[in-house]
Amino acid sequence: MGKNKSIGFIGAGNMGRAIIKGLLSAGTYSPSNLIVSDYSESVIRDLSTSFPGIQTSSNNLNPTAASVVILAIKPQDYENAVRGIKDRIQPETIVVTIAAGLSIEKIANWLDHDAKIVRAMPNMPALVLEGMTALCRNRQVNNAEFQTVREIFDAVGKCIILSESLMNSYTALAGSGPAWILVLIEALADGAVREGISRTVAYEVAAQVLAGSARLVSETALHPAVLKDKICSPGGTTIEAIASLESAGFRSAVIQAVSASTARARELSNE
Ligand SMILES: NC(=O)c1ccc[n+]([C@@H]2O[C@H](COP(=O)([O-])OP(=O)(O)OC[C@H]3O[C@@H](n4cnc5c(N)ncnc54)[C@H](OP(=O)(O)O)[C@@H]3O)[C@@H](O)[C@H]2O)c1
Repeated sequence: MGKNKSIGFIGAGNMGRAIIKGLLSAGTYSPSNLIVSDYSESVIRDLSTSFPGIQTSSNNLNPTAASVVILAIKPQDYENAVRGIKDRIQPETIVVTIAAGLSIEKIANWLDHDAKIVRAMPNMPALVLEGMTALCRNRQVNNAEFQTVREIFDAVGKCIILSESLMNSYTALAGSGPAWILVLIEALADGAVREGISRTVAYEVAAQVLAGSARLVSETALHPAVLKDKICSPGGTTIEAIASLESAGFRSAVIQAVSASTARARELSNE
C-alpha cells in the first residue's frame, strides 16, 4: 500500500531522519516516494548521499505534493512553517504533527480548521525499527486515512492510539524516555568501567541488559516486580544493589522525571 503513496517531510533532523531511515529499511516506501525539505544544507547533503533516490530540497512547498505531510521541525518553528505551506495543502492532504506540546487545535489555527490533522508522538528508536508512537486525530481524518498514517509508524515500530488529553504525559514517557534510558546505560557502563571492565564491553553488555529486560516484560507479560523478585536471591548481590538504588531515591527520581517532562510539555502547549 505504502508504495503507491507519497510522504512529504518538512524538516529531517534527528526525528525526521529516523523515520525516513526506518521506513526505507522496513521497505514499505521506496525512496522516490519520499519528498523531503530541510533548511539545513548539511541535512540535505547527508540525506541525498545516505538514501539515493529520495527527493530533497530546501523548499517547503515541495513536500506538500505528497498525500501525507509530516512536520518534523522544532515546535518553535511550527507556526512560520505551517503558515508558509497553508495555501498548498489540499483538502485531502493529511498533515501529521510530531511536535512535543503542540495541540491539534493550535496547528488547525495556523493551517485551516477543515484540515485533516494527525498528532503523532514517535521516538528515536524508530531509527532501528523499534519505535513507539502514539497517535490521535481530529474528526476530519477518517478511519482509512488514520490507518494510512498508522502504517507509516507501524513500519518503524509499535503504535498505540491515545486520547489527545494524554499526549503530554505520553511524550514524557515515550518521546523523552529513551534519553533517560541512554543515561542509565551510560551510568551502568561507568560503574562497570570503574570496576575494571573495558568501556566497549561495558556499553555492549549494558545495552543488551536493557534490551533483554525490556523483552522479558513485554514477552512474559509478568509484572516487573515479579521478574525482579526472581533475580533477587536472599542475602545476594542484586538485593544489595536495589537497596543502594532505593537509598539514592532511584524510583522517586524516575517518577519525578516523568512529571517534570509532562509539565514542560504542558508549558510548551501554552507558549
Ligand atoms: N528528537 C526526538 O527524539 C523527538 C521525539 C519525538 C518527537 N520529536 C519532535 O520532532 C520534531 C523535530 O525534532 P528533531 O529533534 O528532529 O529536531 P532537529 O534535529 O532540530 O530537526 C529539525 C530540522 O528541521 C530544519 N528546519 C528548521 N526550521 C525549518 C523550516 N521552517 N523548514 C524546513 N526545515 C526546517 C532544521 O534545520 P536547522 O538545524 O538549520 O534549523 C533541522 O535540520 C520536534 O517538534 C520534536 O518535538 C522529537
